Amino acid sequence: MSKVVLYMSMSLDGFIAGPDDGPDHGLGVNGERLHAWLRAGGVDPGSYRPVDGPGATVFDEVMATGAVIVGRRTFEFAGGWAGDHHDGVPIFVLTHAAPEEPAPGAARYVTDGIASCVAQAKAAAGGRDILLHGAATAQACLRAGLLDEMELQLMPVLLGQGRRLFEDLPPDHIELELLRSLDGPGVLHLRYRVRSAGG
Ligand SMILES: NC(=O)c1ccc[n+]([C@@H]2O[C@H](COP(=O)([O-])OP(=O)(O)OC[C@H]3O[C@@H](n4cnc5c(N)ncnc54)[C@H](OP(=O)(O)O)[C@@H]3O)[C@@H](O)[C@H]2O)c1
Repeated sequence: MSKVVLYMSMSLDGFIAGPDDGPDHGLGVNGERLHAWLRAGGVDPGSYRPVDGPGATVFDEVMATGAVIVGRRTFEFAGGWAGDHHDGVPIFVLTHAAPEEPAPGAARYVTDGIASCVAQAKAAAGGRDILLHGAATAQACLRAGLLDEMELQLMPVLLGQGRRLFEDLPPDHIELELLRSLDGPGVLHLRYRVRSAGG
């Protein structure tokens, strides 16, 4: 059964991008620090793979997923990965209104909500897990009770400002279970199961 898994690099104070993020500087001011655990890469996401260690393990798990769900902002800042995130797996781009131009390659826009997006991704993932990208999209998934796991790369930095991963959540607390912790170098990889909201 496919799980929806959020992969996200986050500062210790909870930011996943610095201020003023945009198409030319996807992670915002000082935000590139969050991806210091990766190799410097290009348009192809595979080019960011760390050579070895826990980072390579986590990276390989990302690239073994069978579908991608991504918010439109992340998708656009990444140039849509030229329509291929990895191995041509389907990419579902969550948006309230699709542009007139069709999405490139294996990507398609989804305008009927997060539940439909998750259902379409699960149907297309061939039983493999689904990679989730984007903070607003992760929050929508959490609110809907549709996020199964989170793999957070906790970076030892305080960004102080920018885009927070956890906002706009309901007042009920969300219970997590730590499944795995991998140490460094220079990053803590934390994997959580989302157990319940409000319990
Ligand atoms: N640190 C990391 O590892 C990492 C990884 C990925 C991304 N990022 C960064 O995260 C930032 C992007 O995240 P974000 O939270 O700003 O945006 P996002 O989740 O990528 O995209 C937000 C957009 O998705 C659509 N959307 C979200 N929820 C929706 C819903 N419930 N129904 C319909 N559409 C919905 C909306 O598109 P419309 O406005 O078109 O309706 C919304 O504007 C960027 O700075 C990116 O570089 C960081």
